[in-house]
Amino acid sequence: MEGNTKNREVFVSPEEIKKQNDFSNRVKTMISSRFGINQPLAFVHTYGCQGNVSDGERIKGMLENLGYGFTDEIEKADLILYNTCAIREHAEDRIYGNVGAIKKLKRANPNLIIALCGCMMQQPRVVEKIRNSYPFVNLVFGTHVIHKLPELIYRVLRTGKRVFECPDSDGVIAEDIPVHRDTKIKGWLPIMYGCNNFCSYCIVPYVRGRERSRMPADIIAEAKELIALGCKDITLLGQNVNSYGKNLDCDINFSKLLRMINDLEGDFIIRFMTSHPKDCTKELLDTMAECDKVAKHLHLPFQSGNDRVLAEMNRRYNREQYLELARYARKVMPDLSMTSDVIVGFPGETYEEFRDTVTLIEEVKFTSLYTFIYSPRPGTKAAEMPDPISREEKGRWFKELTDAQEKIAGERTALMKGKTYRVLCEGYAKEGILNGRTEGNVMIEFPEVEGRDVLGEFCDVLVTDPLTWIVRGELK
Ligand code: SAH
Ligand code: SF4
Ligand code: F3S
Repeated sequence: MEGNTKNREVFVSPEEIKKQNDFSNRVKTMISSRFGINQPLAFVHTYGCQGNVSDGERIKGMLENLGYGFTDEIEKADLILYNTCAIREHAEDRIYGNVGAIKKLKRANPNLIIALCGCMMQQPRVVEKIRNSYPFVNLVFGTHVIHKLPELIYRVLRTGKRVFECPDSDGVIAEDIPVHRDTKIKGWLPIMYGCNNFCSYCIVPYVRGRERSRMPADIIAEAKELIALGCKDITLLGQNVNSYGKNLDCDINFSKLLRMINDLEGDFIIRFMTSHPKDCTKELLDTMAECDKVAKHLHLPFQSGNDRVLAEMNRRYNREQYLELARYARKVMPDLSMTSDVIVGFPGETYEEFRDTVTLIEEVKFTSLYTFIYSPRPGTKAAEMPDPISREEKGRWFKELTDAQEKIAGERTALMKGKTYRVLCEGYAKEGILNGRTEGNVMIEFPEVEGRDVLGEFCDVLVTDPLTWIVRGELK
């Protein structure tokens, strides 16, 4: 399908990508004269969401092109790179802790390059702190210049000076970046970047720029590449995949894209995240029901079950609209597994309002929930709101919610006993015990059977022993 974007300037030009390839070659030469026959090693660690993990795979792809190999042992690394997340305060604190701890490695190896990138580095207050308090960090770059990594490393090597490149931007789309994938069984496929929603608690729109969609042809090409690699589980990524295509001027939306990927040859399943309830349409739910390769699993974050809190969060749907979507989804897909994200203790939330969240999960019966205590993010609207409830009190509500969910999850997995599920075998839980996920995203463990090599393959597993969060079974 041909496609044009209404705002072509979001695409990084082929000339710029070529320029980066030239830098790549120059760095490669510099590195080989510095390291001789020994391959330099990079330790790369990504925090945060799958979108960030996908960026990490592109960062590793570029590093590989520069001549780096990879190590999980940080002491052996010649380059350490943390791809950071800013979603909650805890995520940021962990990074400061990690970076503080690598100072001693730099003392032992003055040639060590330390680099920080990702969402934290789009916040000027963080960049200032790194600049002033962590002088041993060599390179800091933001989310909008990832494709310039060869040039940035070149500047570090060439000048020996610290490099900071964190421009404020509405965001770009860079195609034709090499990708280093850690597993070939499951693949991350970004279909769009950024977010326009400005939920009042959330930092993402500030650090990731405006919503922009990749061209259908680029997505299909990457999907084909994944399938050819043997990938059996493709997850389409975006902060709000339901609004895919809105900045493109071709006849496309998320449902149409799903159908195009569903029509590709091969034995694989398609997942997607994240769906925003305000843009989740019945057309999309019908499409999910009709497409045989689309997993019957819907991650649809509701955040709160109370209408006043939802309005304060700027979510732009209410409880009843959410419940109506859930009911319709289960009507067209009776076996649908639903998961969600929830925030406990949003500023001003009362206990009674929090209870609406508990009754909502009891009504929908989610397979699992990602639950978070509200964390103020400087610069967001909610961070300015009065927040009188103590952390201890929020902790008690949090426990009440997770206890309720534990009961629901236990009841749901109990129903799986005696049934057989098609499972993609992903790896080993421990020696002799394989694991994988059902289409509904439930983790399942089962003993290996001699003579049957199912790793990376779909197989049928009979559930014998359902636990709360995972189930155990045996190969059929
Ligand atoms: N785009 C996705 C969410 C991405 S962030 C969506 O709209 O659903 C993942 C989750 O982190 C959010 O769903 C929310 O539950 C949580 N989250 C985001 N900001 C937060 C904050 N300031 N404090 C606590 N949790 C937060
Ligand atoms: Fe954050 Fe809301 Fe955008 Fe999700 S939709 S990334 S919660 S602003
Ligand atoms: Fe974190 Fe950035 Fe993702 S803030 S959740 S890594 S978009």
